[in-house]
Amino acid sequence: MIRVTFKRQDGGATVVDARGGLTLMEAAVLNGVEGIDGECGGVCICATCHVYVETAWRRKLNPAAQGESAMLEAIDDRREGSRLACQIKLTEALNGLVVEMPDKQGSVK
Ligand code: FES
Repeated sequence: MIRVTFKRQDGGATVVDARGGLTLMEAAVLNGVEGIDGECGGVCICATCHVYVETAWRRKLNPAAQGESAMLEAIDDRREGSRLACQIKLTEALNGLVVEMPDKQGSVK
């Protein structure tokens, strides 16, 4: 299992243990993590799975592909470390991953 911590803006957090091979969005939705909606089911068109990846973990992720980058550019509250959770595949290398969630999801320009 791969442990992931989802931090909220109110200072709280939800920790989930997820199966490898799931995406970060799927792990959140399957475990009822509030703040990750995943409305498009992971096809990179809704941005309701936006997360901020903590600095130490960013280099362990594959770079965002063109579709993800385009969607991220449309997000109002984008900042360094912004990624779409549906594009992050969970592997053992990500065990312990910590991400932060924005105040609200789906704020696109
Ligand atoms: S679930 Fe829609 S963009 Fe990630």
